[in-house]
Formats: sequence, structure tokens, C-alpha cells
Amino acid sequence: MRILLTGAAGQLGRHLAPRLGELGEVVTTDLQSGDFRCDLSDRRLLDKALGRVRPDLIVNPAAWTAVDRAEDEPDMALKLNRDLPGWLGAWAAERSVPLVHFSTDYVFSGARDTGWKEDDAPAPQSVYGRSKLEGELAIEASGANALIVRTAWLYSHFPGNFLSAILTRAERGEKLTVVSDQVGSPTWAGHLADAVVELLRRRGELGSGVTRMHFAGNGTMSWHAFAELAVARAAKHGVIPAPVAVEPIASARWPQKARRPAWSVLDCSRFEAFTGRPVPSVEDGLTGCLEMWKEASS
Ligand SMILES: NC(=O)c1ccc[n+]([C@@H]2O[C@H](COP(=O)([O-])OP(=O)(O)OC[C@H]3O[C@@H](n4cnc5c(N)ncnc54)[C@H](OP(=O)(O)O)[C@@H]3O)[C@@H](O)[C@H]2O)c1
Repeated sequence: MRILLTGAAGQLGRHLAPRLGELGEVVTTDLQSGDFRCDLSDRRLLDKALGRVRPDLIVNPAAWTAVDRAEDEPDMALKLNRDLPGWLGAWAAERSVPLVHFSTDYVFSGARDTGWKEDDAPAPQSVYGRSKLEGELAIEASGANALIVRTAWLYSHFPGNFLSAILTRAERGEKLTVVSDQVGSPTWAGHLADAVVELLRRRGELGSGVTRMHFAGNGTMSWHAFAELAVARAAKHGVIPAPVAVEPIASARWPQKARRPAWSVLDCSRFEAFTGRPVPSVEDGLTGCLEMWKEASS
């Protein structure tokens, strides 16, 4: 089986590449690296690439993930997050090739205090959230057989995410200030990659059409609580020399361009029922991530 993996240089893509290798031959693409470079915002280039690779399975973590920049640059967010999934869906539907795509907790409003289920009504609050929801709808409209995995608060030891940003500053001994009134479930990209492989091994049991599945770390906490936990664990693992202070702050006093959901905990019971195993805890995710961090820096 030949698998086309987009976004291979992103944090999820980097975790997925070796795991997908257990299922078949993986052909990777990204803007600047991979087996071949391709600007996926250009449909002509995408179709050329698909024609050359002729994948039996497409896994698409490529996305525009700059949530605040999306408010000012909606066109790029819509190209990558709405149009690209629709184009991939169209190609896949025509050839009966399955598609795995990723979406986000930010498709929900955040106005409640119980976990969001796959069939709850979305009401995104930001350009990014809207673009990701439109991507889901574009796949649905394409008629492809697709698995859409919604995840949340993704982190890894690679640069460019919340965890790597705070630990880089903590390593320098800087005090941190982190919002304490947005609650969610931090998800280690390594656990998500494991989950995707598990779902793909069982894909014969998934129905046809589009299946949505929520997968996030098992745990409910604010960004502030996650930062405190991460700093304490990182100091214990020797990733940073010593813990630093983590001050809480209200979102209203920490202006960000895009509105974020106050409560974006995903209910993962569909995944748990389907696979017969619980989603791993946030604590286990941190441990796995910090071990990789140490390995990468030794
Ligand atoms: N990060 C989170 O907290 C989070 C939360 C919920 C859901 N998700 C979803 O999970 C998935 C994976 O997220 P992630 O955090 O792994 O994202 P990421 O690290 O930002 O990776 C996205 C990848 O897409 C590539 N890309 C962007 N524009 C491209 C273009 N025009 N042509 C080709 N490649 C392009 C990027 O390449 P460059 O780096 O070269 O631009 C990057 O390698 C996404 O669907 C995201 O929406 C993420």
C-alpha cells in the first residue's frame, strides 16, 4: 500500500511518518521538504503530485495552523483548511481511495462544561475554526470515504507549539504567564499518531462515507494548569534545570487576535468504544514527549 502523507514536516506529520511506515510505503510531501516539495494551496500542483504518486491512502495533517494570523490572512487559511481537503476528497472519491484528515476542537463554541461529542453542533468563533469546519464539510460534499479525526491542544518536542514555547523559555529561567480560563485536553502528537495507526488497522470496521472521531489527551485542565504540570515534569526529567514560576492570567488581560473556546474538552468515547481502549492520559503524553525531548537533545 502506498500512503501519501502531507504536512510531513509538521509536528503531527513527523510523528506519523514512521508509524505509517508500519502499514505501507510512505511518500511524504511538504512545502520545503519531504520526498517531494509541493505547495498544496495550488490545485494544479496537487493534482500533478497525486497523479505521480497514485496513493492507495491519503493522510492529510497539512494545514494552516497559525490561529491568530488566520484572522488577518483568511485566504491562506481557507486554501489550506477548506479547499485542500475538498480537492483531496474529490480525487479520493473518484478513485475509491480512503482519506484521513484532521480537524479541531475550535469548531465548537466553547460555551458549556461537558465534553463535545462528534455530532454536537459546531459554532466556530474564529477564522481558523471556520476554515477547519468548512474543510470537514468539503470532504463530506466530495463523497470520499474519509476518517476525520478532531483533536485539541496538540503538542510535541518539535518547535512551534505551546509546550515547546514554554519549555524553551523555562529553560532560560524566564517566568511564565499563562491563561487560566480556557479549559481543554492537551494531546501529545505521538499518542495521536498511535491512534491513527490503530484506526487504520481497523478501517474495515469503519462504515463508508465520512466518520468523525474525537481524540485528545485524557484530562481536563486550563493552559495554566498544563504549563505548571509541564514545567514540574520537565524539571524532574532534567529537560529544564529547575522549575520556574507560572503566573495565571485571564484571557481578557491577554489579548489575542482570534477568539478561542473557553471550554474545548472533546468527548472521546466513540474512539474508546471503537478501539476498546481508553485514550492515554495527559500525564502519560507529557512523559512520552519529554523522553523524546531528552533523546533529541542528547
Ligand atoms: N496544533 C494544534 O494545537 C492543533 C489542534 C487541533 C487540531 N489540529 C490539527 O491537526 C493537524 C496537524 O496539526 P500540526 O500541529 O501538526 O500542524 P503544523 O505543525 O502546523 O503542520 C502543518 C504542516 O502543513 C504544512 N503546510 C502549510 N502550508 C502548506 C502549503 N501551502 N503547502 C504544503 N504544505 C503546507 C506546513 O509546512 P510549513 O511548516 O513549511 O509551513 C506544516 O508542515 C492540522 O489539521 C491541525 O489543524 C492542530
